[in-house]
Amino acid sequence: MDNKMALVPYDDSAVWGLQKFHKSSSVYHFASHTIQIKQNWKQLGVAAVVWDAAVVLCTYLEMGSIDLQGRSVIELGAGTGLLGIVATLLGAHVTITDREAALEFLESNVQANLPPDLQPRAVVKELTWGRNLGNFLPGKFDFILGADIIYLEDTFADLLRTLEHLCSEHTVILLSCRIRYERDQNFLEMLKGQFSVREVHYDPSKDVRVFKARRSIHKEDF
Ligand SMILES: C[S@@+](CC[C@H](N)C(=O)[O-])C[C@H]1O[C@@H](n2cnc3c(N)ncnc32)[C@H](O)[C@@H]1O
Repeated sequence: MDNKMALVPYDDSAVWGLQKFHKSSSVYHFASHTIQIKQNWKQLGVAAVVWDAAVVLCTYLEMGSIDLQGRSVIELGAGTGLLGIVATLLGAHVTITDREAALEFLESNVQANLPPDLQPRAVVKELTWGRNLGNFLPGKFDFILGADIIYLEDTFADLLRTLEHLCSEHTVILLSCRIRYERDQNFLEMLKGQFSVREVHYDPSKDVRVFKARRSIHKEDF
């Protein structure tokens, strides 16, 4: 898969990271549930392993700073779906999206980890950034979530366009990432051009930050 090339070891923890990625599954505990995520790095690369940014954003959501009960959520670049699964378990109605090639694997993780009564609250759907955005109603979502989706410079303009399309005045965007390269910071600057952006959480053990963004109209009360 082309995006596998985007994984560039950046420090010693990369060695541990790669071992972790080669495991066929990983287990998490969120929202009083045990979640077992299948991984398949060899076949699907970055979309089929759980990234630290997803775990940190799940932890942030579970901390309760945000009430997801009954809220409408879309996740971009969901990969294995851990974050979307946790948002569903925390009470949200979640549209869990990724590129076409990632959907079958994503769907199987979502189905395996949501009890039958919660399954109707999670829908897996294709969303390739910048494409066919008309399939998604602007303003439909209270929250837009994305974990480790700021990494491919070629996609930055499309990703920003997607956020702009989906976002209404009431929408809150939560993005988690490790800032690995200057280009990641560049995306945050691009984001700040269109939205009010604030860092709301930092996990030093994983070096992952959570950013909250809203349409710039909210600057005063942000
Ligand atoms: C580093 S992985 C993060 C996966 C997951 N969010 C996590 O944190 O475990 C990046 C994800 O973005 C998705 N992605 C990359 N380019 C994309 C694009 N142009 N449109 C939609 N999704 C894309 C990949 O398929 C992959 O699932």
